Amino acid sequence: MRFQRLLGGLMAMVFVASVAANEPVVIKFSLVVSPDTPKGRAALRFKQLAEDATEGRVKVEVYPNAELYDDQEELKALQTGAVQMLAPSLSKLAPLGDFELFDLPYLFPNRKALFAVMDGDVGAALLAKLESNGIHGLAYWDNGFKHMSANWPLRTPADCIGLKLRVQSSDVLKAQMRALDAVPVVMSFGAVRGALAEGLLDGTENPLSNLYVGKIHEVQKHLIMSGHGYLGYAVIVNKKFWDGLPPPLHTVLEQAMVEATRYQRELAQRETEEAFEKIKAAGTTKVYVPTAQVLSSWRQALLPVHKKFEGRIGKDRLVAVYRITAGMGDTESRPK
Ligand code: LMR
Repeated sequence: MRFQRLLGGLMAMVFVASVAANEPVVIKFSLVVSPDTPKGRAALRFKQLAEDATEGRVKVEVYPNAELYDDQEELKALQTGAVQMLAPSLSKLAPLGDFELFDLPYLFPNRKALFAVMDGDVGAALLAKLESNGIHGLAYWDNGFKHMSANWPLRTPADCIGLKLRVQSSDVLKAQMRALDAVPVVMSFGAVRGALAEGLLDGTENPLSNLYVGKIHEVQKHLIMSGHGYLGYAVIVNKKFWDGLPPPLHTVLEQAMVEATRYQRELAQRETEEAFEKIKAAGTTKVYVPTAQVLSSWRQALLPVHKKFEGRIGKDRLVAVYRITAGMGDTESRPK
């Protein structure tokens, strides 16, 4: 403990010395998606806010489109300090905590209920668990609800039987596709469009903005507004790097992150709505909005996944989420 404190003090001195020598603190922020996504734009906003607020003492370098590391590599890169900041989807963080919770199908009736969980004690406890893995959590970012697409009309859950559907590396998402008698295929985001174009995959799930910005709608003939799951992100930093920064800098960067997060969430909502119109206007994908009765059949098919993962996620935690979201609406009436 004394040694750690001594080390912390030394690192702060090193920081001060490097500032004195006018060397900025560099934060490499790596992303697997385009800078045009809500996540990409918010990363750029954070860069601007952090650099302005520190008058250039901090330099944030944003690397989009998996330029540095792809889905499989980025967490290791963060833990080893090759990059300092990431915003992986909660699904990709699943192995490092109980983030699998957010992958459960039809868990959140709407965004309000989702944020009540994410920004409350449950979300805070999940971020805190990252510390033991050398990671410090700064914020949650949003990308909305996921919908199912394929080159085959999807109307009812039975239409998914035997289809090869791409998922992120999360056991809950694999189980979700198996509950539909589909074949889950784990693949990096950057490889999905090509695999769909070549027919290696039949379909995928994603929020509307990822489908549009990633041009996935150009290689998917059908989209059902199933809204069956959620895609959000945790903005995380290498803990050793973060702990080595002097506390005043923590305050400034945390404030920049609060503002970037507010911007990110508004943008995610707006871009989801715009992407819906743009996908329809592009004319390459037939968009099907299911009736409440059809949505009910999707819920019935997918809800057993909750029970399956209850033990792993923690029954108490799951019950806490059900309690928080109770009375906040139902998924049938959920907007995009
Ligand atoms: C995906 O792999 O589908 C998403 O996590 C991509 C992203 O980061 O939005």
